[in-house]
Amino acid sequence: MAIELVPLPLPQTADAEKFKDFGREVKGVHPGNMSKAEREEIHDLLYKYGALLFRNVDLTPEQQYALTKEFDPSSENYGHGNNKTQADAKSILHPDLKTIPRVPQVQLIGNGTVYNHEGLAEAVLKHPSHTTFHKTRVSEEDTEKGITRFYRWHIDAALYNLKPPLVTTLYAKIVPQGPRQTVRYDDGTGDELEVPLGTTAFVSGKTMFDILPPQLKSVAVRGRVKYSPHPYVWMAPAHALPTGLGIMSEGLEMPDDELPPWEEKLVKVYPILWKNPVTDELHFQVHPCGVKELFIDPLPEGANREGAMFPDGAHLTDLKQVRDLLYKMQRPAIAPSLVYPHDWHENDLMLFHNRGLLHSVVGAFRPDQVRAFHQCNLAASSEPVGPSLEDVRKYA
Ligand SMILES: [Fe+2]
Repeated sequence: MAIELVPLPLPQTADAEKFKDFGREVKGVHPGNMSKAEREEIHDLLYKYGALLFRNVDLTPEQQYALTKEFDPSSENYGHGNNKTQADAKSILHPDLKTIPRVPQVQLIGNGTVYNHEGLAEAVLKHPSHTTFHKTRVSEEDTEKGITRFYRWHIDAALYNLKPPLVTTLYAKIVPQGPRQTVRYDDGTGDELEVPLGTTAFVSGKTMFDILPPQLKSVAVRGRVKYSPHPYVWMAPAHALPTGLGIMSEGLEMPDDELPPWEEKLVKVYPILWKNPVTDELHFQVHPCGVKELFIDPLPEGANREGAMFPDGAHLTDLKQVRDLLYKMQRPAIAPSLVYPHDWHENDLMLFHNRGLLHSVVGAFRPDQVRAFHQCNLAASSEPVGPSLEDVRKYA
């Protein structure tokens, strides 16, 4: 049976035109048992469409690990490292991650208490909630009415020492039923988005770049971001914006000398735009919460300087200035019409291009709403590739 592709079920809120090339449901193949030809086809489809959904899949953690590894055969460690260290204990990711004992690269995430699950006698899971991360929170009253927030827009990556995973697999084992919720952006725009309970929200990094005005495209193509050492420890004392797209600048980040031991050579500096290895397209791939500094190269020789921002280049170190500029570039792409909120069904497997999109946990569960997902991504064997000289000339 040949591989068949079906567009993802877009909600009414989505601008279908913008999702023409984003996301496909894949039929006619089992992701845990593919021939070499099928694996090659799925590889290219993933990079072409960014997110592939397989429905009604039975997948062991071993198969999920093998599928994830297929995209980067020499990668072995979970994207945040396999070994829990002192540094992890202080990280904001710490409570969200539980490892499947047989396959430590696969994490069990979700909500409520799960029993006898893949070798775990009992696992207490907690769906991350904006209430512990954002500066402001939705009132109890509005929460009752189903109002919620995006938790944190991100790339799955340690952003220190380890290289950002190429792909993430997210497999829904237990999905609680419940009424739909409404994401409120609470950033003064009045934007809202109705979503299924416990959705995972996706936005395209390609669209994030494509919709920018020329001046900001020029900044993006010339820009590099420097992440903090141990970014998830660094940001732990700070609070996020109500859209989950970055941190409020209140000076609360952990000072460098209080962080767990770190080395400058392991700090990550990445281009703002990452090149898709199959389509050659540019994707705006910045995890805004972890960024500390921004470098912008000067305009290339012969470029039109009229109206250009930072024509002679810049090195921005003021956190608020860095964050405001990134927010200006990233916020347009999380507009309600550009978000794909996946409506999870049990045994859905989502395979996504972690270097081509941003995603966010969404919503809030009660403790009795049990949810169990298996997540796998692997620290990559090579770094992301930035824009080519040709790209710089084209967009600068
Ligand atoms: Fe994630």
